[in-house]
Amino acid sequence: MDAPAAGPAEPAAPRALMAPATVLARCATGIGGLDDVLGGGLPRGNMILVAGSVGTGKTTLCLEFLVRGAERGERSLFLSVTEASQKLIQNLSTFEFFRPDLVSDGSLVFVDLPALYDKLGLEHEEMTSDEIDILIRTIRDLVQTLGVKRLVLDSLTSVCYRIRRDEAIRDFMLRLGQTLNQLGCTSLLVSEIGPTEGRYSMHGVEEAIVDGVVLLWNTRRQGDILRVLQVVKMRGTSHSRAQYVIELTPIGLLMAPHLKGGRPEGA
Ligand SMILES: Nc1ncnc2c1ncn2[C@@H]1O[C@H](COP(=O)(O)OP(=O)(O)OP(=O)(O)O)[C@@H](O)[C@H]1O
Ligand SMILES: [Mg+2]
Repeated sequence: MDAPAAGPAEPAAPRALMAPATVLARCATGIGGLDDVLGGGLPRGNMILVAGSVGTGKTTLCLEFLVRGAERGERSLFLSVTEASQKLIQNLSTFEFFRPDLVSDGSLVFVDLPALYDKLGLEHEEMTSDEIDILIRTIRDLVQTLGVKRLVLDSLTSVCYRIRRDEAIRDFMLRLGQTLNQLGCTSLLVSEIGPTEGRYSMHGVEEAIVDGVVLLWNTRRQGDILRVLQVVKMRGTSHSRAQYVIELTPIGLLMAPHLKGGRPEGA
């Protein structure tokens, strides 16, 4: 058969269309599997929700992100609401990847938010808009003064519990995200959710505002409970949305594809 006659030559693509796509600067989490899924790490300056039910490894993932950052010379700040820093450091010291010298030399800083609330005189059970302003300014000053490049808030859920109104939560998160982004600080906000699927935060507004959502959950297989991780969204990069089984090991968080052999017994 004759080859089809060649048609008119395609017009050359405009120069701008041929330019290579911009690649945003990355903040490598230092957790190998997660960086692979993200194509090199979190886009720098992103604010990400780490959402999951109890015991799924949210705090451990966030702590490893900070330790790996501090090791690379990026000052890291853990804002703790739910557990006292002293106890967190104690738990962290059971992992081999932890280096106590990072705490003593100020590369890894822990701040207890309840103590900060007391110091700032934030006393209303439901924060007023002035109190929310003070909280945002205090976090900004801490990040700016210390030159923090990685921040964790554990948990956003506990802070939102005191902000309560959806509009106020939206405003708090928009301002916090913008402030941290301008300062080049990449942040992980812990969201505590129940085991039911379809929702990544208590109020629902949180997940819409953040740049990314990393979801963790428990699943049963043949009597065992597995931890599973999935990157649900991540603005500024393409990424895998596959499910990965994670293991919290002394050397850090390890990930493997979730081969769904056998029938899971529910989330
Ligand atoms: N040294 C260790 N090595 C390996 N795994 C550990 C170690 N210490 C704790 N774990 C595991 O980590 C789990 C706790 O994980 P983590 O506190 O990160 O979960 P979480 O999602 O933050 O939980 P919560 O909902 O209670 O805040 C423990 O239940 C235990 O299985
Ligand atoms: Mg926790």
